[in-house]
Amino acid sequence: MKKDGYVVAVCGATGAVGRVMLEVLAERDFPAAEVIPFASSRSAGSTVEYKGRELTVRELKEDSFAGIDLALFSAGGSTSEKFAPLAAKAGCVVVDNSSAWRMDPGCPLVVPEVNPHDLAWHKGIIANPNCSTIQMVVALKPIHDAAGIRRIVVSTYQAVSGTGQKAIEELANQVQLMFNGRVEEIEPKVYPHRIAFNCLPQIDVFLDNDYTKEEMKMVNETKKIMGDESIRVTATAVRVPVFFGHSEAVNIETAKKLTARDCRALLSQAPGVRVLDNPSERIYPMPIEAQGQDATFVGRIREDETIDNGLNLWVVSDNIRKGAALNAVQIAEKLIEMNLLRVA
Ligand code: A2P
Repeated sequence: MKKDGYVVAVCGATGAVGRVMLEVLAERDFPAAEVIPFASSRSAGSTVEYKGRELTVRELKEDSFAGIDLALFSAGGSTSEKFAPLAAKAGCVVVDNSSAWRMDPGCPLVVPEVNPHDLAWHKGIIANPNCSTIQMVVALKPIHDAAGIRRIVVSTYQAVSGTGQKAIEELANQVQLMFNGRVEEIEPKVYPHRIAFNCLPQIDVFLDNDYTKEEMKMVNETKKIMGDESIRVTATAVRVPVFFGHSEAVNIETAKKLTARDCRALLSQAPGVRVLDNPSERIYPMPIEAQGQDATFVGRIREDETIDNGLNLWVVSDNIRKGAALNAVQIAEKLIEMNLLRVA
């Protein structure tokens, strides 16, 4: 590390995730000598806030990475495809929040609570997993270690912030139009249908197998992060009219029996997890309480009475924090801890 810290680029700094990356870097006092915000030419010259100061946004260009040690990317898949290799070539370590590099066999896909060891083989680009996958594996890894997960059936209830700033505005505008009796003026732009007071069982595009890309990300990324191709995963991903916080109903089948009580005790000790599970007091995780929090919240832990070794869980986390910005910053912190972040 340089005397006064690392030079850090945030690419996509004006976006829903980029802004929170800046917030998280500041609140965790990341050892940054300098933080440089990048976005497209559209917002070059505008400002973003970091540690109470206004930083001027620069346009991301091919030659932007000289002298930068660490680049956190959240500017969409095509931007990452183009710029992440250029950044790595310039000697900078990239933590990329898009899906561009996640399944690349040359790029580790990392959740620090689950597979920090995979950082050891990085070659410049480290992928940050899909938001729904991150919170699920944080909750499931301790169970997999203790009882061996054979199969996962997950249904998601995903907030609009996962789609980005424009989707947040779309939900807010649609709700306003509806309350003003102007429902006929609603014109969905970001989503294929109205999202206000609705649920959309489509996240991202449909693939040849009739699953969506989001659903298959959960299937494939879970196996890569857990380092276990034998886990069977099936997912239904649903967009719901919530601004922040993804929820998931997760059903698992394990090799060894784990009672609900044992599972509660296990997860109470697990890194990054907070158990909120007291049905008689109506205590369970909800997105309104997870918003702005770092933890992955787990509740409604109960045995699946239809099979021998089954459990049901309800998993909630702030998709912009643990699902994106926080996980990326935690990866960077782990790189420093493991002595894997070099100065450019
Ligand atoms: P900009 O504000 O200039 O469009 P969100 O996920 O909330 O939609 O945000 C996407 C982020 O990615 C924004 O900061 C956006 O910047 C940035 N971005 C989009 N396209 C590019 C590009 N070609 N080069 C650099 N940044 C980009």
